[in-house]
Amino acid sequence: MSDLKNIRDQFILKLKNDLSEGEINSIKTELFGKNGLISSQFKNIGSIPESNKKKFAADLNQIKNELQGLILKKINEIDTKKINEKLKKEKVDVTLPERPFVRGKIHPVSQTIDEISSIFSEIGFSVEEGPDVENEYNNFTALNTPDNHPSRDMHDTFYLDDNKKLLLRTHTSPVQIRTMLKGKPPFKIIAPGRTYRSDSDQTHAPMFHQVEGLCIDKNINMGHLKGCLNYFIKEFFEVDKIKMRFRPSHFPFTEPSAEVDIGYEIKDGKIIIGEGDKWLEILGCGMVHPNVLKNVKVDHTKYQGYAFGIGIDRLAMLKYGINDLRAFFDCDYRWLNHFGFDPLDVPTNYRGLSR
Ligand code: PHE
Repeated sequence: MSDLKNIRDQFILKLKNDLSEGEINSIKTELFGKNGLISSQFKNIGSIPESNKKKFAADLNQIKNELQGLILKKINEIDTKKINEKLKKEKVDVTLPERPFVRGKIHPVSQTIDEISSIFSEIGFSVEEGPDVENEYNNFTALNTPDNHPSRDMHDTFYLDDNKKLLLRTHTSPVQIRTMLKGKPPFKIIAPGRTYRSDSDQTHAPMFHQVEGLCIDKNINMGHLKGCLNYFIKEFFEVDKIKMRFRPSHFPFTEPSAEVDIGYEIKDGKIIIGEGDKWLEILGCGMVHPNVLKNVKVDHTKYQGYAFGIGIDRLAMLKYGINDLRAFFDCDYRWLNHFGFDPLDVPTNYRGLSR
């Protein structure tokens, strides 16, 4: 017992001192480490004569608890002291001037893409994406566009190699091919994204945006296409009534093909959609050509459907009163600040698309 008592007295005295964290830790090891003074006493229990064993063990446990308790108390004291010092140092100075805070804005084109995705998701379309760098097959051949078609001309297409095998996609239609090649019908997708053509003026930029639509199922007809576009245009422009006209047109990958115009008028310098007698072309569409379905191994005797391609930048210009397309891509911070959207104001069909 005297050994134990010595250890106890000696360490209780030590622990009364003002100790640093490091000193406490070394006391802890000295006592309770692998060969610590207390730990080795526990190993000793076996060699204590039977008559003494019980008392020795009880004393040892008591001393162990006492010293452990003291060490814990010291550690807690040090922690509290640290926190208090930190709190004192980190006092908030309410007299400091505020830090400048700049919140970014969402680009009108991105906002328009979000709006379009939200509108189509409401009637069961999912969103697909494809790469900007496409191969010639997906962009043209698979889309039933013959070798001598004028849209393949150097004037329109940015080719990336001499063999004209790689190019910057001229439309989002190759995503139709990618989607149908990797899945099984039915398909009901939209594919927004960047597209490229060698063209530049107030209403054309070499890089612009389209959203592709594709709906393939059994018994899909042109009535579905009209209904779908009618719904979309009304939702997008947030009007109850629109004037829409289908003009016969030609695309190699649709038959029949049409271009769609919407009626508008200009009142007090503002564009009013759905009234008046002026027409504005906003998209191309049609029933997917059987050759396209053959190219992607979809049975054209069972499945058919429609596709459309909408110019996103045009729609954004119309809806948000922006009159020069090039401003979209000038990266002028002041312009973006004026025409951009609050990042937290995500368009949904329930909360409203725009405000
Ligand atoms: N890809 C065509 C274009 O860029 C638009 C379109 C898409 C037409 C789908 C019909 C069907 O002009």
